[in-house]
Amino acid sequence: MKQFILSLAVMLMAVSCSQKTDSKALVLYYSQTGTTAAVALQIADKLGADIEEITVVNPYNGSYQETIQRCMEERESGNLPEVNPIKANLDDYDVIFFGYPIWFGTCALPAISFLKTVDFSGKTIVPFCTFGSGGLLDGIKEVKAAQPAAIVLDGYGVRAARINAMPAEVDRFLKENGFLEGEFEKPGDFSAVRPATEEEAAIFDAAVGTYPMIQAKAKNVCSRAINGGTEYIFEAEAPAGPGPAMPGAMKIYVLDMDGQDPEFTQVVR
Ligand SMILES: Cc1cc2nc3c(=O)[nH]c(=O)nc-3n(C[C@H](O)[C@H](O)[C@H](O)COP(=O)(O)O)c2cc1C
Repeated sequence: MKQFILSLAVMLMAVSCSQKTDSKALVLYYSQTGTTAAVALQIADKLGADIEEITVVNPYNGSYQETIQRCMEERESGNLPEVNPIKANLDDYDVIFFGYPIWFGTCALPAISFLKTVDFSGKTIVPFCTFGSGGLLDGIKEVKAAQPAAIVLDGYGVRAARINAMPAEVDRFLKENGFLEGEFEKPGDFSAVRPATEEEAAIFDAAVGTYPMIQAKAKNVCSRAINGGTEYIFEAEAPAGPGPAMPGAMKIYVLDMDGQDPEFTQVVR
């Protein structure tokens, strides 16, 4: 009980940060179907930052299946798509918000290709991405590997299916990281990991639904109270079998907000 009251107190503590609001920021992004572009526009709008799209010399404008096929061939051959030079002068910026969709568990190939053409040494990179189910952490690892002399911050990622939640999440992300002044709520720590109860397993099942890439059952869970609901991290295991789901262990983040259906926010493998 004492711990609960404590974590509630921390959660309700309003925090204000402003240490990075003076830096000059550029929002650079690649987007094939417009979802990452929406996040990029939101960030630029909130910060009043310059924004530029990364484009590919030979665009991926086929169907989803054609894009998957081309991308698989390019990954196997190592022939990354050529990107057009950007117009912005990178010397003018301290902070680069760098956005991309997740393809095959990491940054989309045009973003990887672009990172090989620039030198972000000494600059701060803030990665952001959109995805079907997840890939935020592996995408950030890819950015760090490509730009080892840059300061790469924790990024923001959102499922394409949850893009309506993005404006509020971006606002919070920018405040939490000191790019925007203002108050935000800081949730408490997650509880210790415990076996999921039947009720929690039902929340997991409702959140994951029939999502084809996740054919898993909840095993363990930890949780924390957030404003208006509960956030869970479920540990789950998917068996090998037919269908598109990848077998193996995974962590699935779930939001269960009052009056709304539970939804998963990302899968971490
Ligand atoms: C070639 C390709 C590979 C993809 N691979 C993944 C993946 O590994 N994991 C995932 O969660 N989503 C994956 N997606 C879904 C995209 O990340 C998602 O639709 C994203 O929001 C698209 O962003 P955009 O509209 O900015 O292009 C993939 C999409 C494509 C086209």
